[in-house]
Amino acid sequence: MFYYLIRKLLFLIEPERAHFLMLKLLYMKNFQIFNFFFKTRIPSKKIKCMGLTFKNKIGMAAGIDKNGEYINSLSKLGFGFIEIGTVTPLPQTGNLKPRVFRIIPAEGIINRMGFNNLGIDNLVNNIKKSNFKGIIGVNIGKNEHTKIENSVNDYLICIEKIYCHASYIAINISSPNTLNLRKLQYGILFKNLLYEIKKKQKALHQKHLKYVPIAIKISPDLSKQELMYISKQLIKYKLDAVIATNTTLDHSLISGFKHSSEKGGLSGLPLQKKSTNTISILSKNLQKKIPIIGVGGINSINAAKEKLASGATLIQIYSGLVYHGPKLVKKIIHNI
Ligand SMILES: Cc1cc2nc3c(=O)[nH]c(=O)nc-3n(C[C@H](O)[C@H](O)[C@H](O)COP(=O)(O)O)c2cc1C
Repeated sequence: MFYYLIRKLLFLIEPERAHFLMLKLLYMKNFQIFNFFFKTRIPSKKIKCMGLTFKNKIGMAAGIDKNGEYINSLSKLGFGFIEIGTVTPLPQTGNLKPRVFRIIPAEGIINRMGFNNLGIDNLVNNIKKSNFKGIIGVNIGKNEHTKIENSVNDYLICIEKIYCHASYIAINISSPNTLNLRKLQYGILFKNLLYEIKKKQKALHQKHLKYVPIAIKISPDLSKQELMYISKQLIKYKLDAVIATNTTLDHSLISGFKHSSEKGGLSGLPLQKKSTNTISILSKNLQKKIPIIGVGGINSINAAKEKLASGATLIQIYSGLVYHGPKLVKKIIHNI
């Protein structure tokens, strides 16, 4: 009830501003209202995945804390893991504002942020400054001006710089807001990317005597055949996990609503079924050889259970937090 009152106020503010206001308020740990969210005890429900031990199955999805500036405060919401980023080798401003739109009647969000971030070096420093001891994933991408043929190099630069500071690394090849990025999910570009990142991981493993798992984050707009191909390659190259899914370019479920024709990726409830379907197809094809991290439209205990039942080992939330508040995390942890 309480969050829905705060939400009324937040929804009066432009979405990107509201997002930063919320993060700043969480940062003020002693701010009375937010103590409310930190009070209830969070049960420990440990689970192993990618060779790591997670406090629980529910993680914070990428995009909420792109620069890793709020790691400590976000970790207090009860998440079993937090994924920061997407970060690119060099800083970049992203697309022009406004670039985030709430589709309130559908419980959706359209965003075309375009990897606005302060670069990998800044993110590494922020991780070093935080005293968070839990699982921290770092989601990496390519710079806007890097040609798609050369993009592997951007991922390798980020892997090298983040390797000693991340619990796992997520390779984002599915944001719809960076021109041609999604091409990396297909054919020779995909194979070559997997080959090069596994080679880099092996070299860094030997150098640092530490194995850092690597997950690939994919789009919900892939066909069954494309998912079969991806699954085959993920098994062949021994990737550590797949994150399904990013936002969708399919706006059909929100047609007629205000902002529905804004360009960008759609998340939240209208994505729920599509991402679950992607997870089911992956699950069938991966045959438990590679774990799936399920994300897309998780807004309730049932939605979380559905993702797990369709084959996800871990789950992540973004839009559900915007519409239902931080208590959603604890509610789900208690009930799955
Ligand atoms: C405003 C916004 C920004 C996002 N930024 C990123 C990002 O930088 N990297 C990424 O991999 N996913 C990003 N996402 C996608 C989410 O991580 C998640 O995959 C997607 O929103 C589906 O989950 P949800 O329905 O719970 O929001 C973003 C989503 C939103 C709404």
